[in-house]
Amino acid sequence: VHEQPTIFIIFGATGDLAWRKLAPALYNLFVDKFMPHNFAIIGNARAKMTDEEFQGKMLEGVNQFSRNGKADKTLWKEFAQHISYQSSDVQDNASYKSFADFIEAFETKHKSKARVIYYLAVAPRFFPIIASKLAENNLATDPKTSRVVIEKPFGHDLESAKDLNVLLSTLFQEEQIYRIDHYLGKEPVQNIMAFRFANSILEPIWNRNYIEHVQISVTEQLGVENRGGYYEGAGAMRDMIQNHLLQLLCLVAMETPINFEADEIRNRKVDVLHAMRKFEPDDVQKYVVRGQYAKGWLEGEDVEGYRKEKGVDPQSNTETFAAVKFFVDNWRWQGVPFYVRSGKRMHQNTSTIIIQFKDVPHCVFPTQVTDNWQQNRLVISIQPEMSIRLQLQVKRPGLDMVLNTVDMLFNYKGTYKHGEPEAYETLLTDIMEGDQTLFMRGDQVEAAWELLMPILNAWGNRKSLSFPNYQAGSWGPELAEALIAQDGFHWFTLPFDNE
Ligand code: BG6
Repeated sequence: VHEQPTIFIIFGATGDLAWRKLAPALYNLFVDKFMPHNFAIIGNARAKMTDEEFQGKMLEGVNQFSRNGKADKTLWKEFAQHISYQSSDVQDNASYKSFADFIEAFETKHKSKARVIYYLAVAPRFFPIIASKLAENNLATDPKTSRVVIEKPFGHDLESAKDLNVLLSTLFQEEQIYRIDHYLGKEPVQNIMAFRFANSILEPIWNRNYIEHVQISVTEQLGVENRGGYYEGAGAMRDMIQNHLLQLLCLVAMETPINFEADEIRNRKVDVLHAMRKFEPDDVQKYVVRGQYAKGWLEGEDVEGYRKEKGVDPQSNTETFAAVKFFVDNWRWQGVPFYVRSGKRMHQNTSTIIIQFKDVPHCVFPTQVTDNWQQNRLVISIQPEMSIRLQLQVKRPGLDMVLNTVDMLFNYKGTYKHGEPEAYETLLTDIMEGDQTLFMRGDQVEAAWELLMPILNAWGNRKSLSFPNYQAGSWGPELAEALIAQDGFHWFTLPFDNE
């Protein structure tokens, strides 16, 4: 990473992503000495701004959102020297000419070919324009040195995702295209593969013989903030399930890869998506629940309902919550339901994967000591706590034989003192290194859309008459409880039931 001079060209540089995520990530990489010796960051957007003003905005982002708190004055000054800003319209060829000039001057100065990373942190309607202009201006011709990074959403449905893939594949090589799903950069998410494939005791029980069901929940207290315009056209299914939650599911359900190569891992994940049952229109009502929040309370504050949010239709039919009972139709998972749910304005911020194991085949203890009985559970907590816990039954100390549930706990905080990189630090490093393992391949994105299209079509054809159907600050609509309760389970929440 260090030797090759590198240029980041960030389109949409005045947007939320650049400010909240990219600026802190790049700065932290610089502080931790993971940036190349020679690098430049060019911000591009339409707004008029001087280099200093743009640097100031980036600094604000670091100060507000960096995991390490405020920037160090001296280090920031050093870092800021690498940042410049160019105001231009992405439709305008002149912008691309000036990038070409910049690259040429930079390469001459450093007497070496530069690695150039074009980061499209823009609204999706600009993806095709920028991609075509880059190619037209010969800016991303060498697959070894130029990379194009695409933020989500990648397509609005299967057809638009296919169109975008076709376009990108005519302009660039797949090895140059980095489709971001930032969940894959999170430390505990990366750990799922380590946990599963670097420990011999798990594989024998990681299947339908021992696992009863799986739950994946990503719940947020946040509403749609200032993203109402985008969210109104997306909804929870497109915004979260299509990408983050299905990726988590793939990591839990995938077969063991034969090595740790990007394509091998991505192949195994695509296998899962292909094995997942596609719903018939009639299944949608049976296996899928949608919700929209009404006004309510969160952390002691009144919050508005979704339909009152900025940029949202007062009659909106967009779901801010979705829950699905998925099936993976292969030998390993036949008969094991995967319940996933995600929603905004929910009671807690949590991202958790829960693997519930089957009960003991025969209970030898009398009922009076098994009151607190709980089947074994493996809980992978991605946020806010980063941990993996295995919940087991033990005898509580005392003269009587009484059982209770305890955790065998691996907790990042207690185990590692140095803190961990943010998802975007990992992803930006991988882009520089040319490692695509944590990025979505074109066929993966399409397979995920293909799986969800029957649901999206059914919803598109039928307005929800019950919206809004859950209170802000609750655990979502009652129907989501019913979806899992009819199988005899319930959604597990933190703090755990036994605590
Ligand atoms: C984004 C979604 O991809 O992920 C947002 O567009 C959501 O709506 C966010 O809030 C959640 O990410 P994280 O890292 O905060 O869990």
